[in-house]
Amino acid sequence: MPHTDAPWWTTSVVYQVYPRSFADSDGDGIGDLAGITGRLDHLERLGVDVLWLSPIYPSPQDDNGYDISDYQGVDPLFGTLPDLDELIAQAHARGIRVVMDLVVNHTSDEHPWFVESRSSTDNPKRDWYWWRPARPGTVPGEPGAEPTNWGSFFSGPTWEYDETTGEYYLHLFSRKQPDLNWENPEVRRAVHQMMRWWLDRGVDGFRMDVINMLSKDLPPRDGVVPTAERDGVVPPGGTQGDGGPYYLCGPRIHEFLAEMHAEVVAGHEATLLTVGEMPGVTVEQARLFTDPARHEVDMVFQFEHVSLDQGDGKWDVRPLELTALKRSLGRWQEGLAEVGWNSLYWNNHDQPRAVSRFGDDGEHRVRSAKLLGTVLHLHRGTPYVYQGEELGMANAPFAALEDFRDIEALNHYRHAVALGADPDEVLAALRTMGRDNARTPMQWDASPHAGFTTGTPWIPVNPDHVEVNAEAALADPDSVFHHYRRLIELRRTVPAVALGDFTMLLPDDPVVYAFTRRLDDVELLTVANFSGDPVCPDVPGWSEWVLAELLLGNVADPTGPELAPWEARVYRRTGSA
Ligand code: NOJ
Repeated sequence: MPHTDAPWWTTSVVYQVYPRSFADSDGDGIGDLAGITGRLDHLERLGVDVLWLSPIYPSPQDDNGYDISDYQGVDPLFGTLPDLDELIAQAHARGIRVVMDLVVNHTSDEHPWFVESRSSTDNPKRDWYWWRPARPGTVPGEPGAEPTNWGSFFSGPTWEYDETTGEYYLHLFSRKQPDLNWENPEVRRAVHQMMRWWLDRGVDGFRMDVINMLSKDLPPRDGVVPTAERDGVVPPGGTQGDGGPYYLCGPRIHEFLAEMHAEVVAGHEATLLTVGEMPGVTVEQARLFTDPARHEVDMVFQFEHVSLDQGDGKWDVRPLELTALKRSLGRWQEGLAEVGWNSLYWNNHDQPRAVSRFGDDGEHRVRSAKLLGTVLHLHRGTPYVYQGEELGMANAPFAALEDFRDIEALNHYRHAVALGADPDEVLAALRTMGRDNARTPMQWDASPHAGFTTGTPWIPVNPDHVEVNAEAALADPDSVFHHYRRLIELRRTVPAVALGDFTMLLPDDPVVYAFTRRLDDVELLTVANFSGDPVCPDVPGWSEWVLAELLLGNVADPTGPELAPWEARVYRRTGSA
C-alpha cells in the first residue's frame, strides 16, 4: 500500500471501553455513559484516535449487553440517548471517533422481533430466526431431540425447545441470544436501516460481533464430537458436537458483508472504520474480507494467537510457546502484507489480561506490560488497547465461584462439574482464562473501589488498585501509561511503524521476539526478551544495531548487547537495504 493512499486508520490506535466496568457516574455500581464522558481526558492524554464502545443498548444483560432487545436505544443502566449524543460530541471535540458494537448475529430473546417470531409458526417474523422441528424419531423437548448435536459457546446445546409451537430455535450463544436468520432479506434490510440510523446520529463505524457467523449452512447435520468423548472420557467442554463447519464463514458470508457495505458504508469509507470479529477465520479468508477492492470490512479480529495456550477448547489451558506465537503472528503479517490489513490485540473484554497471560504480573509487571505493548504496536496493523491495558492491569485474584459473574464461566462450571470434572480444576481454568479477568473495574485511583464507583461495584475491584491505577500512572513518567502514549505517538510520527514491510527474525528462538520494519530507507528493529533471565539476542548485525538510534525502550538507559529480563528495545537506522 503506497503510504500516500493509506486510509486514516493505518496510523490510528483504537481504545476499547467496556461500559459496565469503566466509570460509574451515579453510584449504582455499574459504569455508564456519563462516566465515560467524564473520563475522556484520559483517552485524549493517551492519544488514541478511536473509542470502541461495547454494547450500551437496552438488554436483559444475560451476556452483559451482547443480548440486545432494542438496537436503537440506550439501556437505562447506562443512561439515555442524549447521554450517548453527549459522549459522541465530547469525543469528537477531542478528535476521537466513536465506533459502536454491532451485534446482529443474534438478538435477545426479549427483542420484539423474537417475541413475535416465537408466538406462532405463521407469524410474519417466524422466519427471522432459525426454527427447526425435533430430530426425526425423537420426542420433542427430550434430551437428544435437538435438531443437531451442536454445542453452544456457553455450554449445552445450541437449540432451545419452545413449547408454544413445539419447535427449537438456534442460539450459538446463550438461550437468551437467538440467532437471526440472515437468509431472510427483511432481516438484512432491518439491520442496514438500523446501521444507517446510527451513522446519521454521528457514529464513526462498527465493531461487528461474531460477524463471520451470519451465513449458516443449515440442512440439519451433526458436528464431529471430540475424540475423547467418543472414547467415553467426558472432556471439560461438554458432550456436544462441533457445529463450526456449518456456521463459520458460511456460503453467503462475503455476499452479506459486501451487501452491508454497499447499503451502509459506501460513500463514507474515508471516515468510517469497520472491524469484523471473526472466530476461526484463516489468513486466506481474512485477506478476502479485508481486500479493499472487495468492499467488505476494513480489518478483522482473528483468534489464532489467543488460542495458542489452549488445547481442546478454551478451558484446556496449556503453556504458550513463544515460537508458536511468532509463527502465527508472522504468518498473519505476511498473509496481509500486500492485500488487506491486520488488527492487533492482546486484550479485550473476552480475554484474560495479557500481562498475566503472556508477561509476568509479579516482579516484572511494569516492564513486561511495556514489552507486550511494544511488540504489538510495532507490528503492521491497527492496534487495539483495552481499558486498563495501558496501566498494566492484571488478572483478578478470584477466590471462589461466587466471585465470577460471566455467563460463560458460570455455565461452564455447572456443566463441567455435572459431567464429572474436578471442581477445583474447573475453577483453576476459570481463574486463568475467564472473561471476568478483563471485566473488573477500571482502576482510576487508590481510593476504595478504585475511584470507579461510590457505590458497590457489580464485580469486585482488583485489590492491586492501590498500586496499579491511572492517577499513579499519570504521575510517573516511567509508567506503562506513558510508554503506551509514546507507542501511539510513534505510529503517528514514524511512517515505518504504520506502513513498513515486516520481517520476522529468529523464528526458532524460544525467548527472543525480534522483527524489522522497513519503509523506503528507514529500518526499524524491535527486539524483546520474553523471559525473566538476561539474554544476548542472536539478531543478525546486532552489534551494529546497538549503536543505532534507540527510539524506545522499557529499561532506563539500556547499554550493551545484553537484554535485561523482559526488556524490549526499538531501534531506527537509515540507509539502503
Ligand atoms: C463476542 C463478544 O465479544 C462476546 O463478549 C459475546 O459474548 C459474544 N460475541 C456473543 O455476542
